[in-house]
Amino acid sequence: MLESQGRRSFIGFAFGTVAAVGGAFSLVAMKKTWDPLPSVRAAGFTTVDLSGMQEGELRTIEWRKKPIFILKKSSSMPQNPKREISIDNSPYVVLIGLCTHLGCIPAFSASEQKFKCACHGGEFNTDGINTFGPPPRPLDIPPFKIDGTKLVLGEEGPEYQKMIAEA
Ligand code: FES
Repeated sequence: MLESQGRRSFIGFAFGTVAAVGGAFSLVAMKKTWDPLPSVRAAGFTTVDLSGMQEGELRTIEWRKKPIFILKKSSSMPQNPKREISIDNSPYVVLIGLCTHLGCIPAFSASEQKFKCACHGGEFNTDGINTFGPPPRPLDIPPFKIDGTKLVLGEEGPEYQKMIAEA
């Protein structure tokens, strides 16, 4: 009698342990399902190393499905401290490459040193300021953070916050 009770309680304990371990594994598996994938977590940020860029070079990259213009300004381009950032002691301009009139992507004319929108003739200078045609305002500036010679798009660093406050 006593022996069978002991066996029963052992079996009960064994089942309970298996159920508890199984439950814990299920919870871990469920949490993994709910957590966003690492690639999704990192998707909001894009890091670009600017160390190889030449003076006057424009690089266009994609961030959150938008074209982003990164222009390393040359000494012949007008200066605008309110819209420029300094990376490795060189001035850069970072802009969302969508015309503020109706959203076309302006093209950069290196010879004229301006961005020209083919849709309705809008023009922007090298700082992204509208200078001609229907665009009602300058090109927008995406949130960014400077990390050495790298630009992290999607993060609001102190340089971005200062620029937006002064704009
Ligand atoms: S969309 Fe650029 S000028 Fe109209």
